[in-house]
Amino acid sequence: MRTTWTFASATKLIFGPGAASQVGDCLRDLGASRVFVVTDQNLIEAGVWEPVRVSMAQSGLSWSLFAEGQPEPSLHLADRCAAEARMYAPDAVVGLGGGSNMDVAKMAAVLLRYSGSARDYLGDGRVPGTIAPLVCVPTTAGTGSEVSHAAAFTDTEQQVKTGMLSEFLRPRVALVDPLLMRSCPAKVTADSGIDALTHAIEAYTAVDNAAFPLPPGERSAYQGKNPLGDLFAERAIQCCGRYLRRAVANGHDLEAREGMALAATLGGLAFSNVGVALVHALEYAVGGVVPVSHGAGNGLLLPFVMRFNLPGREAEFCRIAEWLGETPTPDAAIDAVIKLKRDIGIPERLRNLGIQQSQLRSLAERAYAIRRITRVNPRPASIDELHGILLDAW
Ligand SMILES: NC(=O)c1ccc[n+]([C@@H]2O[C@H](COP(=O)([O-])OP(=O)(O)OC[C@H]3O[C@@H](n4cnc5c(N)ncnc54)[C@H](O)[C@@H]3O)[C@@H](O)[C@H]2O)c1
Ligand SMILES: [Zn+2]
Repeated sequence: MRTTWTFASATKLIFGPGAASQVGDCLRDLGASRVFVVTDQNLIEAGVWEPVRVSMAQSGLSWSLFAEGQPEPSLHLADRCAAEARMYAPDAVVGLGGGSNMDVAKMAAVLLRYSGSARDYLGDGRVPGTIAPLVCVPTTAGTGSEVSHAAAFTDTEQQVKTGMLSEFLRPRVALVDPLLMRSCPAKVTADSGIDALTHAIEAYTAVDNAAFPLPPGERSAYQGKNPLGDLFAERAIQCCGRYLRRAVANGHDLEAREGMALAATLGGLAFSNVGVALVHALEYAVGGVVPVSHGAGNGLLLPFVMRFNLPGREAEFCRIAEWLGETPTPDAAIDAVIKLKRDIGIPERLRNLGIQQSQLRSLAERAYAIRRITRVNPRPASIDELHGILLDAW
């Protein structure tokens, strides 16, 4: 049982419109002259790479561009990116994009320092030490990967989403620039935005730090609910309530983009110290068998998991309802989330994703096996109970 908690973040966080123009200086401060940049074609076409490129050029840096990033990246993609990084032998890595590109950049920064392939570093605490200096520049408001210790991949062989967790994965610098998010398409804005809300709600309603069920001798990057996580989650939930619909409706609403950028980074700070729970465990299973974005999968599942977690977390649910602008009752929190996800077009049911009812049992078993996440949940869940949640969501 834990009785103390610690709090970690990216070493430096630079936030606000225009922040991306500091990337060159940041890389210089890290002693870099050759930089490996992980991004994708959409971001190049949308002009998001341009301010980063200009800043790096002004700082006299040379770079190699890996622009083959894909949503929900596979381990193969991460290995391919790392192979290119090893050939270029950079002294720093930049992850420019949503969670997908930032996570591939994290893996490249690991594989620049250590031998082997992506699969060798999956799980909790398997990165041996510090990684290549990493700067993350998010272009979605969602994952919080720019400050987190996590990286997520699709394991196409095992048909499950999988993750790498290590304190060494926290970027040296996070540059959060809402101007880069203006071109983010409405669907990606919605999906990644509800991911940020899920991070904050799962952290705020997690098992208490003092009751975190950690077997003797085992370490975990996650630690359960604590006061600083609560503080960040509160603000993140409020921002999602105020700004997510607006950001989806009008991508050029800069106030909304900035509010959601804050929600995402604060959500990342909260979940990467406290933990994520059953929504994420179930989404990792669902996302392995059907092509749904992480955010849409989470958004779909969130109210159903909230319903399961309500007993014992009534006080937290009342506050969440208030922060989302509703009357402070536990049911109002669930209703507010359902309303929000409807308004922004998150799919309602697992069957809408093409999942068959006969698949649910095996999905429940896969989610149950992800102990590093399921043990963060405030209410322990058996395979039968996970199956029940999936049936409700089906
Ligand atoms: N590392 C973490 O802590 C963490 C946390 C949660 C989720 N994740 C992972 O992150 C991934 C999801 O990331 P995401 O939701 O940020 O989406 P994403 O990175 O998958 O991006 C989705 C699409 O949007 C496009 N896009 C992104 N920003 C854009 C912009 N500003 N303009 C134009 N196009 C833009 C991208 O090119 C991409 O095609 C999943 O793999 C998920 O598992 C990681
Ligand atoms: Zn998430």
